Amino acid sequence: MASKERELRVKPINNGTVIDHIEAGQALNVLKILGIGGHTRHVVSVLMNVPSGAMGAKDVVKVEDRELEPEEVDTIALIAPRATINIIRNYEVVEKFRVAMPRNVIGIIRCGNPNCISNSNEPVSSRFVVESMDPVLLRCSYCEFVLDKNIADHLL
Ligand code: CTP
Ligand code: ZN
Repeated sequence: MASKERELRVKPINNGTVIDHIEAGQALNVLKILGIGGHTRHVVSVLMNVPSGAMGAKDVVKVEDRELEPEEVDTIALIAPRATINIIRNYEVVEKFRVAMPRNVIGIIRCGNPNCISNSNEPVSSRFVVESMDPVLLRCSYCEFVLDKNIADHLL
């Protein structure tokens, strides 16, 4: 019943990627990670607050005719640790996997410490160790700054 309702909202896609089970509220951040702003050549569907048995409410992003890079999947894990990636070919789900939390996060997130060397003019990429996954807690490898809230706001 619930899935029927969902299919009515946005129809199945022929080919591409469905990012499902995104924490409600994170869909626009997923688009940011995928580099999808105002202009894109892909057909993109965004569903917010879809009722979902396990999660209460979830967001879903469907990107047609595109598969994701592993780094993109890792970054999505930071803001939507329960997301599933579904690869669709010829209307069928040919692959389904959960995002996996990376051990290190390099060059993707800005350190919250303005005095951190990764925020200086030095050519130093930001680098965090993932210390906990649920909730996500990142520790800067340079200055020990801990990032555990609003991680999406720190996306570079
Ligand atoms: N989907 C789609 N187009 C297709 C096939 C699937 O947009 N041609 C979407 C579905 O709407 C769903 C997701 O891809 O959001 C996963 O599809 P499926 O595995 O069929 O759904 P569920 O079994 O409900 O997935 P899960 O067990 O992961 O909740
Ligand atoms: Zn730092």
